[in-house]
Amino acid sequence: MTAELTGSTALVTGATAGIGRATALRLAALGASVVVHGRDGTRGAETVDEIAAAGGRARYVAADLSRPEEVLRLAAEAGEVDVLINNAGIYRFAGTPDSTAEMFDAHMAVNTRAPMLLVGALAPAMAARGHGSIVNLSTGAATTLFRGAAVYGASKAALELLTRAWADEFGARGVRVNAVAPGPVHTPGTDDMGGETLRMIARNTVLQRVAEPEEIAEAIVFLASSRASYITGAVLEATGGRLAIG
Ligand SMILES: NC(=O)c1ccc[n+]([C@@H]2O[C@H](COP(=O)([O-])OP(=O)(O)OC[C@H]3O[C@@H](n4cnc5c(N)ncnc54)[C@H](OP(=O)(O)O)[C@@H]3O)[C@@H](O)[C@H]2O)c1
Repeated sequence: MTAELTGSTALVTGATAGIGRATALRLAALGASVVVHGRDGTRGAETVDEIAAAGGRARYVAADLSRPEEVLRLAAEAGEVDVLINNAGIYRFAGTPDSTAEMFDAHMAVNTRAPMLLVGALAPAMAARGHGSIVNLSTGAATTLFRGAAVYGASKAALELLTRAWADEFGARGVRVNAVAPGPVHTPGTDDMGGETLRMIARNTVLQRVAEPEEIAEAIVFLASSRASYITGAVLEATGGRLAIG
């Protein structure tokens, strides 16, 4: 039996860790040839080796997405891409008086500008071929107040607006653009925040627990695949259910 994504190429940004890594493994298991992106070459090689060991196809491309010229080089090195997962992201928390210009610019550069540049570089070719799928990683904090996460949430709220704009811009030519908004997920990035912050966020979920990266990857892969063929411009919440009062 031919796997669902056989013959397609997927670029997953931030695939050296967490949600991106789990998504790369899942896309490869479904037959996609995966371009694994990140900055950490050791973890990039580990992800590629794990995909190969499971019988899949992958290669690693390094790029610092805070630098526009590196984003465009990544797009060029990725080549013809059918599936783009804009997953790489940063999240730093601070009150507004402590939110510096550098912090604001870093969030907008990696979380918002890099996806915009990748879509601008890759979506026209998808549209010319008449098919393609893009999934952006947002967050529950883009639409619900999460104290201390204003800058992070704003960078992702902008990405949700761009998701709808891109869905419109490329939809008539066969390219679907959606977003997944996760709640708390165990990843190397959130491990750095300390377990109590993550558990506190999890107490405000209906499911009362933190997600594993593989659970978010399933939502991403669904939207990326033709199983979601009539879904575009949508933000799929994978938040474990949001509670007003935890
Ligand atoms: N984890 C959560 O609870 C959660 C919740 C909601 C939304 N999200 C979103 O989900 C996405 C993934 O989160 P995660 O927790 O899995 O992340 P993570 O564990 O912190 O890993 C981040 C990934 O992004 C890459 N990255 C970060 N900055 C980069 C830069 N300047 N240039 C290139 N690559 C860069 C990292 O690459 P290297 O390590 O190789 O440098 C790494 O692969 C993010 O967009 C995040 O906002 C996460």
